[in-house]
Amino acid sequence: MTKEEYKTSSYKAAIISGSHDEGKLIEISSIEAAKITSKEILVKSVAYAVNPTDWKHIVYGLGAKGSVVGCDVSGVVEEVGEEVVGFKKGDIVSGFVHGNVQTRTGAFSEYVILNPITVIKYDASKFDTDKVLTTGIHPSDLLTTFEGAASVTLGLVTVAISFSHSLKVDIEKSKNSNDYILIWGGATATGVLAIQFAKLIYGLKVITTSSPKNFEYLKSLGADETFDYNDKEVVSKIKSFGKGSIKYGLDTIAFPETFQSLYDATETTNQVHLDSLLGLTGESIKTDASRKVTYGTTLAYTALGKDVTLGPKTTKSTPELQADYKLFWETVLPKYIDQLKSNNLKVLPKGLESANEALELLRQNKVSGEKVAFRY
Ligand SMILES: NC(=O)c1ccc[n+]([C@@H]2O[C@H](COP(=O)([O-])OP(=O)(O)OC[C@H]3O[C@@H](n4cnc5c(N)ncnc54)[C@H](OP(=O)(O)O)[C@@H]3O)[C@@H](O)[C@H]2O)c1
Repeated sequence: MTKEEYKTSSYKAAIISGSHDEGKLIEISSIEAAKITSKEILVKSVAYAVNPTDWKHIVYGLGAKGSVVGCDVSGVVEEVGEEVVGFKKGDIVSGFVHGNVQTRTGAFSEYVILNPITVIKYDASKFDTDKVLTTGIHPSDLLTTFEGAASVTLGLVTVAISFSHSLKVDIEKSKNSNDYILIWGGATATGVLAIQFAKLIYGLKVITTSSPKNFEYLKSLGADETFDYNDKEVVSKIKSFGKGSIKYGLDTIAFPETFQSLYDATETTNQVHLDSLLGLTGESIKTDASRKVTYGTTLAYTALGKDVTLGPKTTKSTPELQADYKLFWETVLPKYIDQLKSNNLKVLPKGLESANEALELLRQNKVSGEKVAFRY
């Protein structure tokens, strides 16, 4: 599609249908092609991945009927705004967009408008553009396929904010070698990436919780010690294992009870930094006033440079957050992107039409240790 054509034409997208019935959250529709600004890029989509935030936006009414669904996409750059540096037409990329809230752009669409600050460029010489993952489960692998690349960007943005800003982990690996991070929910899509960040990029030792069936997988990604979150003694076992050296805690589940567990398991550490992915702080749990704890509340959307209001809560995108994130995203992550692995992938067969099934799998909690992906 040329620049002139897309300005006047429409393309195919999955939009919020207005129904909350099973298997009917989205409908495939034709949307008007919007023009990119000088600061944006336009990507021709190849593959997508679904995230819990997608069905939550729809079912909890955070996005209006007609909004383009989806946050994670991979594809090929079609057009680059005049002020954008570092990207050109034909680049292989994956991108994270605030989908489910706007008619102008969203991931599950033929073309997607992206802010480059949440886009990853891949080395074409290492990327297998011809490989199409067949329907079914594929084991965790390097980010060399469109399905794999589509599955990581929201997660990578999230852990980038968490480590660089919310937890403020020192980027000098040698300073972290005696410290543990406790990642509650290591088998979540976010946890799988957080384990790799902690080990590979920051040189931390990693304790994580998951179901026992995921222990070996998480160890293969870099976890040093794994604990079953269903074990009634899990908190005391982690506490005695960590012996005062669990300096950081990230709760990827972020229920009040999991955040309480994270808080309690780090009790013996003198100064601890905790982060929750659903906005929880000390105010949400029982705390001990004598402990020194700092709280982060990572929200991936804030990487896009604007305050984010979801329901009653507004999360600030402060200049400090933007600077910490940008430095990490532009100068640290590119050095490691070739070494990072995706989650295990569950690939659906019906192209864009798969979006309803993908959303339903997550809404009904039918996915364990996998990321659901599909092609355009
Ligand atoms: N703030 C943000 O920007 C942000 C970004 C991404 C995600 N999130 C939120 O974070 C949450 C996780 O999202 P996700 O996509 O990473 O997760 P996901 O991949 O959908 O998580 C599924 C996994 O959760 C694990 N799990 C469930 N209950 C658990 C518990 N009590 N303790 C430990 N592990 C448990 C299960 O592990 P086992 O199979 O081992 O049992 C399961 O495999 C969602 O609520 C999502 O909305 C927020």
